[in-house]
Amino acid sequence: MNFFTDKNAAGFPLRGKYGEFGGSYLPESLVPVIEEIATVYETCRRDPAFYAELDDLLKNYVGRPSALTEAKNFTRKIGGARIFLKREDLNHTGAHKINNCLGQALIAKRMGKKKLIAETGAGMHGVATATVAALLGMECDIYMGEVDIARQAPNVLRMKALGARVVSVAAGQKTLKEAVDAALEELIRDPSLFYLIGSAVGPHPYPTMVQDFQSVIGREARAQMLERTGALPQAVIACVGGGSNAIGVFTAFLEDKNVRLIGVEPAGSSLEYGKHAATLTIGAPGVLHGYRSYVLTDVKGEAAEVYSIASGLDYPSVGPAHAMLHDNKRGEYIHAGDEEALAAFKLLCHTEGIIPALESAHALAGAMKIAPTLSPEGTVLVNLSGRGDKDMETIAKLGIIG
Ligand SMILES: Cc1ncc(COP(=O)(O)O)c(C=O)c1O
Repeated sequence: MNFFTDKNAAGFPLRGKYGEFGGSYLPESLVPVIEEIATVYETCRRDPAFYAELDDLLKNYVGRPSALTEAKNFTRKIGGARIFLKREDLNHTGAHKINNCLGQALIAKRMGKKKLIAETGAGMHGVATATVAALLGMECDIYMGEVDIARQAPNVLRMKALGARVVSVAAGQKTLKEAVDAALEELIRDPSLFYLIGSAVGPHPYPTMVQDFQSVIGREARAQMLERTGALPQAVIACVGGGSNAIGVFTAFLEDKNVRLIGVEPAGSSLEYGKHAATLTIGAPGVLHGYRSYVLTDVKGEAAEVYSIASGLDYPSVGPAHAMLHDNKRGEYIHAGDEEALAAFKLLCHTEGIIPALESAHALAGAMKIAPTLSPEGTVLVNLSGRGDKDMETIAKLGIIG
C-alpha cells in the first residue's frame, strides 16, 4: 500500500515543512547528499513496486499486522476507559524501529549504497538497522554513546551477532545526541554512506519519510479498534523521544477531531535542568541536527544535558511534526518521570504478562493518568512501542523485581 502523506486536509503535513518547523539546515557539503535521498524517496513513494516489496517484508519478515491486545487486568487496576495495546513489541527485533529501517534500507538499495550507518540510544534502532543490513547484504556501523553501550548491553551483543560494528561515542554526555553528532560527522567524511536515521527527526526528507514508514502502526490500529469496539478510541497515547512511534500511530487519526492525540515526554528524575528530556514541556523553538523544532538548551544556547531512565527518550529535541501539533494544539504533550514509568512497567508485567520497554512504559504511565479521567465505556489506544528484554539489567539493579 502506498501511504505517503502529502495531502493536507488537517493542515498537516506539508512535505518537509511542518508550519515553521522542519526544513533543512545543513553544512554545504551535505546538501547534495541529503537532496539525493529526497529525490529518490519522491520516486520510491510513487512506485507501486517499491511498496509491494516493503509490504511483503512487513508481512512476511516483520510479522505485521501486529496484534491489538485489550489490557483488561491493567484497566481493572487503574479504572476508567478500556485500554488497548498496539503490540509493536511483537515485531521482529522487538520494536517499531524495524518498520522504518526496512523502508529506508530499500531506498539505500535503490541508490546503490553498500553501507548503512545509524545512531542508537536504546539499541532497538541499532538492532533493526543491523538486521536490515544483514538481510540486504550491506555493511553496517552503529554509533552509540558509551553510557548507552553500558546500560543496553544485550542490544550491543545482538548488533554484533548480526555482523554490525558498534562504534562507541565518548563525547559529551555519551548518549543519543552525541551518537547523532558522530553519525553526521561520519556522513560528512564519507558521503557514499547511507545514514539511516532512527526517528522522525533530521533534515528533510527524514521526518516525513520516517512518518510515512511508521504510519502503518496507526493505519492498522485504527482498523483494529473499529473492528473490535465498533468505534474510535477517545485517546491515542504514545511515548515521545524523537517522536517516530508517536507520529506513526497518530497519523491515521489526525483528521478524527474527537480523538485526542497524547504524547508522553520523559520527565526523568525531575523537571530541573539536566534531569529530564521533556522538550515540548520545557524547550523553545531552535535548530539542532539539521532541522527546526523545539530544543532544550543550556544558558549558552547549546543543546542541554538530558536524562531519562529510558535510553531511547533522552534526546534534547523532538520531531518537527510534534512541534507543529503542539503549537496548533492538535496534540497534547504530557510528561511522566522515571518513577511513574517504573510503576507502569511493573503493573503491566504483573497484570498482563507483558514486559514493556522502559520507553513504552512512559506511554503506559501516561495512560494511567488519562484513562481514569474517562468513562468505562470509552477506550484508549496505547502504542506499546517495544519489548523490555533490553532493560532487564537496569530493572534488576533498581531492585524492583524478585
Ligand atoms: C522501544 C522504543 N520506544 C520508543 C523509542 C523512542 O523513539 P521514538 O520517539 O522515535 O519512537 C525508542 C527509541 O529507541 C525505543 O527503543
